[in-house]
Amino acid sequence: MHDEALLIATVAMAFVLAFGLGFLAYHLRLPPLVGYLLAGVALGPFTPGFVADSGMAGQLAEMGVILLMFGVGLHFSAADLMAVRWIAVPGAIGQILLATLLGTGMAMAWGWSLGAGIVLGLCLSVASTVVLLRALEDRNQVTSANGRIAVGWLIVEDLAMVLALVLLPAFAELLGGQAGEHAAEGNLLVNLLITLGKVAAFVTVAILLGPKLVPWLLKQVARTGSRELFTLSVLAVALGIAYGSAKLFGVSFALGAFFAGVVLSESHFSHRAAADSLPLQDAFAILFFVSVGMLFDPSILIREPLAVLAVLLLIIIGKSILAFLIVIIMGYPKSTALTVSASLAQIGEFSFILAGLGVSMGLMPGEGRDLILAGALLSITLNPLAFGAVDRLLAWMRRGTYGEKRLARLQGQLAELRKRTEAREAEHGLQLKNLVELFPIFADLDAQAREDLLLLFRPRTAAPGERIIRKGDRPDAAYFISKGGVQVSVGGREIPLGPGEFFGEMALLSGARRSADVTATDYCQLLMLDQREFRTFVARHPRLREHLDELAAQRSAMNRDGAEPNSVPAA
Ligand code: CMP
Repeated sequence: MHDEALLIATVAMAFVLAFGLGFLAYHLRLPPLVGYLLAGVALGPFTPGFVADSGMAGQLAEMGVILLMFGVGLHFSAADLMAVRWIAVPGAIGQILLATLLGTGMAMAWGWSLGAGIVLGLCLSVASTVVLLRALEDRNQVTSANGRIAVGWLIVEDLAMVLALVLLPAFAELLGGQAGEHAAEGNLLVNLLITLGKVAAFVTVAILLGPKLVPWLLKQVARTGSRELFTLSVLAVALGIAYGSAKLFGVSFALGAFFAGVVLSESHFSHRAAADSLPLQDAFAILFFVSVGMLFDPSILIREPLAVLAVLLLIIIGKSILAFLIVIIMGYPKSTALTVSASLAQIGEFSFILAGLGVSMGLMPGEGRDLILAGALLSITLNPLAFGAVDRLLAWMRRGTYGEKRLARLQGQLAELRKRTEAREAEHGLQLKNLVELFPIFADLDAQAREDLLLLFRPRTAAPGERIIRKGDRPDAAYFISKGGVQVSVGGREIPLGPGEFFGEMALLSGARRSADVTATDYCQLLMLDQREFRTFVARHPRLREHLDELAAQRSAMNRDGAEPNSVPAA
């Protein structure tokens, strides 16, 4: 009971304060996330007043990262990732190495040990996904070529951090000199191989199995027509895969969630999944910023102002220059280089995890973590300014042609991929349109219901002379004719039915046996709706039910009238 109340108190206070300060920040023309961060500082243990549970807030923040990465994955196909790999992979690795070197040098100049320097450097070298995406979204750049490069770069950083988290303990031993040289090396190698093997297994499963399994599962859920179940399945897939892959393969939650999104991005459920998870993504992303603020001890600003400034400059200026140079060396234009630089001029979640690990292993002094938190808070706050500076720099710099060709090629490649997705969606749209054009009975259904119906239909063919329904049988399905023709034999009469018409609904509606024989007179393409799906769908759409009832009543009246001439001798 106590814990439950604590959770509610933490979430409630976080939302209330974040809202208030975010709103205030907006009116002061500051980015709202500055308000969220300050809400966190106010709720944290280092400021007076209410103290929220920071462990709990941290976990909620992790949920935010998971949902957000899932959302990014939904807009990112495996092909997009492959398209940017030539710049993202060398760029991210190069930047991590150089930034770590820079950080190590700075720490050693302060008199820290080599191990402490490496941990600090690594922490400063990785950027936060949440912050990056917020920035790209605000500027509508997530799907631009520059945005794709920045996100791809970040994914590679995340992958590299998975390795770093595993290797750090092994290095700790090496640097601490506890284990013998060989034992340590053996350990390192084995650890490295196991980790690489796990990551490879994870990627294989994600690429081979995922794209078949996950869309299939969602399709089954969508067929139920229950929105609630669908939203639930999206959350279950995102969180389930994130947690499962973290447990099984040792990759981070966020990376698992990202691949869950990528796996889904190829199916046309991706839009619905994105729309369903968006409000939760937003809510939890705010908790992420609040929890960063909560960990922050403002006294570090007074205790170590110069060190804080050095860390901040390394993050904002040092890393930016590195990223800028790397992108230019890779042959891309200044606009790309500046966008990537600004995107990565901050640090976040991974830095805290690494810093925590470094401190707990005795590699880095506790003040290192405080410095990193200060650096994170300040660089996140200043990040929108970095983007503003990019615009000004671009306007000021002379527009050269350097690298434009390469960027244009990448843009072309990405546009090609987008076109393919759009073609797929257009085809799906066409199917929907055809459905209504062909079957006027569905004209009243809204877009979602039509989508559901497309999922429920099972295609079936019939050859001329094939009996599809036998009079007196129990009903199993209703049939909608999309091509060909059938003949209904009832009371000695033959009634032809063609494309756009349907049959087999009477017995399903009345619960009686089949009222007539139905035989194909041509090669037919039929859309079948099984009885269970028929009943649930019709029950959910009363207007459709009315139409069907009316039509069935007409048909049975016609059969009764038609039977009369046989029983009553013609006058
Ligand atoms: P059901 O009774 O389930 O199986 C036979 C089907 O033939 C029936 O549903 C109707 O869909 C169709 N049918 C029966 N009578 C007529 C009619 N008079 N005109 C058109 N279709 C009919």
